[in-house]
Amino acid sequence: MNAPAAPQPAAIGVAVERVGKRFRHAVKGMVYAAREVTLDIAAGEFLTLLGPSGCGKTTTLRMIAGFETPDEGRIAFAGQDVTHLPANERGIGFVFQNYALFPHLSVAENVAYGLEVRRQPRAAVARAVGEVLELVGLAGYERQFPAQMSGGEQQRVALARAIVIRPRVLLFDEPLSNLDARLRVQMRDEIRALQERLAITTVYVTHDQEEAMAVSDRIAVMNAGSLVEIGGAEALYHRPRTRFVAEFIGRANLVDALALGSAGDRVEVEALGQRLAVAPGAARAAAGSRWLLLLRPEALELAQPGARTDAIEATVKSRSFLGEKVEYLVDCGGRTLQVVRPSLGGAPSFAPGERVGLHVLPGAGTLVDAQ
Ligand SMILES: Nc1ncnc2c1ncn2[C@@H]1O[C@H](COP(=O)(O)OP(=O)(O)O)[C@@H](O)[C@H]1O
Ligand SMILES: [Mg+2]
Repeated sequence: MNAPAAPQPAAIGVAVERVGKRFRHAVKGMVYAAREVTLDIAAGEFLTLLGPSGCGKTTTLRMIAGFETPDEGRIAFAGQDVTHLPANERGIGFVFQNYALFPHLSVAENVAYGLEVRRQPRAAVARAVGEVLELVGLAGYERQFPAQMSGGEQQRVALARAIVIRPRVLLFDEPLSNLDARLRVQMRDEIRALQERLAITTVYVTHDQEEAMAVSDRIAVMNAGSLVEIGGAEALYHRPRTRFVAEFIGRANLVDALALGSAGDRVEVEALGQRLAVAPGAARAAAGSRWLLLLRPEALELAQPGARTDAIEATVKSRSFLGEKVEYLVDCGGRTLQVVRPSLGGAPSFAPGERVGLHVLPGAGTLVDAQ
């Protein structure tokens, strides 16, 4: 048996405090790429920065890495200020979207590089390289060259190279964007499993909300340089506070709602011409206040008109059969709503042009800030 591997260093927390970074824009002058970003990342946590292209994810990640220096604010690893510490002294592993492998080096040489620049003895390097290649499922690939490998294999090499130095913090910038859909799903599961096994504090950047939900302990949603909301996937999906998060994570029907009063942990609202009891969301909804009611497509049901009481009148605009589910667009008083139903054989089905009764599942829906 091999000698036991050096123990994994204990996971550390990362604090990002009111960090800002400006760049010169050709037309607009100095513009914030990230502004007042504050993140408290727990030891061993998998945190994802999620948001549309250009919202400041990469800039924030590169400041954590030490590739960019913040103009404002402070970054600490394990309570120690690293704001001005060079990247190679922070103990980070970084995985790039385009793999960034050395094309003229073999797999083993690519992975060994980070250890060799740290002047580790040859035998220890060889053993460490063998171990991490095994971990990422590339045992036996030592002498291959990047150009001989698929995109997924190259990204595994990049991952091996990032973890071989036993980083304190592992950073990923859209690592799966160049892979096809099936491989993306497989690789994201592998990344998450490896991260849990090694218990390395991880910051992961993606613009793909499904990927973020699949891998993260918490998701920090960014928009236009600012952090909008942070939380677990289920909390952000079911109880977003902001319209931006309601629309960016999952699909949203947002309808005007008037708060009528509270009943227990529910708020009575008037929406779509009905009285509904919904979750209050983050804020207290005073009687008479106006909100947006978030209804996820799977929280809506369709029935024959008149089959049940309290039906909201609607007309089917389109129906798409997607295998495990059926998606409808329905017109409801001039407003288009998305409805998703599980596609069980024998379940009632409705055709475009058909009049239907629309029902909100009991307990579904949450109030979101109206702006
Ligand atoms: N080196 C740079 N010089 C000038 N502008 C930059 C630079 N890096 C990023 N930006 C700008 O900052 C904003 C945020 O960029 P980025 O952090 O790359 O966003 P994201 O990764 O979310 O797509 C964008 O408007 C981008 O054009
Ligand atoms: Mg980016």
